Amino acid sequence: MNVKIKGTGSAVPKKCVTNDDLSMLMDTSDEWIRSRTGIESRHLAVEETTTSLATEAAKRALADAGITADELDLIIAATVTPDRFLPNLACEVQREIGAQHAVAFDINAACSGFLFGLGTAAMYLTNGVYQNALVIGAETLSKIMDWNDRSTCVLFGDGAGAAVVSAEQEKGGILSMVQGSDGARGMVLNCDNRPVNNPYIKNDTALAYVSMDGQAVYKFAVRTVPESIEAAVKKAGLTIEDIDLFVLHQANYRIIESVAKRLHQPMEKFPTNLQEFGNISAASVPILLDNVKNRGMIRTGSRIVLAGFGAGLTWGAMVLEW
Ligand code: UT7
Repeated sequence: MNVKIKGTGSAVPKKCVTNDDLSMLMDTSDEWIRSRTGIESRHLAVEETTTSLATEAAKRALADAGITADELDLIIAATVTPDRFLPNLACEVQREIGAQHAVAFDINAACSGFLFGLGTAAMYLTNGVYQNALVIGAETLSKIMDWNDRSTCVLFGDGAGAAVVSAEQEKGGILSMVQGSDGARGMVLNCDNRPVNNPYIKNDTALAYVSMDGQAVYKFAVRTVPESIEAAVKKAGLTIEDIDLFVLHQANYRIIESVAKRLHQPMEKFPTNLQEFGNISAASVPILLDNVKNRGMIRTGSRIVLAGFGAGLTWGAMVLEW
């Protein structure tokens, strides 16, 4: 069985916040943010939640795939910012869309989450366990940002992207996948959860927020992303020149330029949307995939690399034939 993406969808909050808007709240500037990252604005949740964004993206992906929620066997949601500890985000979406026959669970692999979710769904589909899966990447990162830390809060945004994937006889679909993790270096990008707190230990620690060693993450990304893409392309029996589009995690335009340079590929093959949305962790790759599809950049037979990297540390690359 081959595993094909049958439909995509995305949703972002209504409120768009520009770099100039942020410069009125903190000591930063459009010039600093734009020149260091390429980001010009981001969408931040005001009325929306991770569940509402994920649900909207899911409904659009189902409509695009031409299947009903009833036909879903599996829902995997990748997120680091679910609305609740319990129930998980995938079950919340299941309830909202009425996917009564689906098994639903979450994955936390930060910015690689959508890739890991897609890889997990692919295992069920190739082995004939399930027929149709919905994979979602959804975040409201703004709630775990320290809005007094200009070195992190300006980089991130909120939103959701989703893809319907199905098992098919037809050739193509997912050709290869490479994944990796390095927990030993994990603290370069972290956010603590609640501390242990029970009748035997009292902990009144204040809520924790995202903390990042930006330069360490930058160095990790510019080395690991091209390496993982090269490995995935080789595994698919292709060369880098065979790839039409590289849909990368949208953290920083300079990282994407560096990856393009290392792979000796033109920037035209690397679509971006970080200018408008910033970094949305697990949602970045599926939102961009949906955007490029809507821009008419994907045709039947197009060869596409999806690649993510981030906290964990985690990374993943996948080669698809559309
Ligand atoms: O999903 C994965 C997520 N993370 C990433 O991909 C992050 C990868 N790293 C990066 O993109 C870059 O390291 C950053 C964009 C985060 C930072 O760029 P940088 O060139 O590494 O800057 P820096 O951290 O070395 O900071 C340079 C200066 C500092 O001032 P001093 O110490 O030189 O006086 C910072 O305090 O820029 C200052 N700064 C800011 N200034 C204005 C930091 N944040 C800001 C800000 N506005 N928002």
